[in-house]
Amino acid sequence: MAKKMRLDKLLGHMGCGSRSEIKKWAKGGLIVVNGRVVKDSGLQVDPEHDEILLDGERIQYREHIYVMMHKPQGVISATEDLREQTVVDLLPEDIRHFEPFPVGRLDKDTEGLLLLTNDGKLAHELLSPKRHVPKTYFSIVEGEVSDDDVEAFRDGVTLDDGYETQPAALTILRHEQEEHRIYSHIELTITEGKFHQVKRMFEAVGKRVTYLKRLSMGTLMLDAALPLGQWRECSEDEIDQLRQGKSIEK
Ligand code: URA
Repeated sequence: MAKKMRLDKLLGHMGCGSRSEIKKWAKGGLIVVNGRVVKDSGLQVDPEHDEILLDGERIQYREHIYVMMHKPQGVISATEDLREQTVVDLLPEDIRHFEPFPVGRLDKDTEGLLLLTNDGKLAHELLSPKRHVPKTYFSIVEGEVSDDDVEAFRDGVTLDDGYETQPAALTILRHEQEEHRIYSHIELTITEGKFHQVKRMFEAVGKRVTYLKRLSMGTLMLDAALPLGQWRECSEDEIDQLRQGKSIEK
C-alpha cells in the first residue's frame, strides 16, 4: 500500500506555497483531488496515485531531486555560508526547496562534476569508504609527471599526515613547456575521498596541482554539453546506474 501524507505537506514539499497559503487556497476551492474539490488541506492523500490539481495545474509529487552541476571555481561545496557563495546558491528556488546538498566536496578552486541531492541514502552509499566509488579527475600539474609517479600512485603514496593512499590510476596525457616550466596534463582515478586528496597525492611526489576538474563519480559523468556554472537534473537512467554501480551506455 502506498504511504499517505497530508495534502498541505505534499504541496509544500513541491514548493507550491506555505501551509497557510495552501489552507487558504483549499478554502477557496482551488484544490481538486481525484476530481473533487477538497476544502480541508490536512486531508490524507496518496502521493503516488491520487490526481492533485492546484488551480487547474496537475501537481506531480516526487520525493527526491538529483542535480548534476558543473561546479565553477570560487563557490564552496556547502548548503549555506555567511560569507561565501555556495553551490546551492547557484540553484533556483524551485530546486532549492527540495533541500539538496552536495554529495561530497570539491575544493573552492576545483571545477567539475558535483551531484546535489536530498536522497540521503544514495549520498551515504556513494560516500561510504566501503563502496570504493571511483572518482576521475583531470588536472594540470606543475612539474614533469613521470612513469615513476604512475607506479607510485598505483602502489599508494604517503600523505603529509602519514596516511597511505589506496591504489590510484594515473594517466599522463601530455607535457607542456611554459617559460622554462614543465606542466603535465593528467587524469587520475581514486577510490577514496580524503581531504584535498589529489593535491596532497601530488605533493607527496614533489609536484603541485595548478588546475583540478572532476570528470566523473561512479558511473555519473560530467555532461560535456553542460557549461561551467550550469546544472541540470540527472536522468532516471543516470541515477539508476549510479545506484547499481553499473556504467551507462551513451
Ligand atoms: N582532491 C582535491 O585535492 N581537491 C578536490 O577538490 C577534490 C579532490
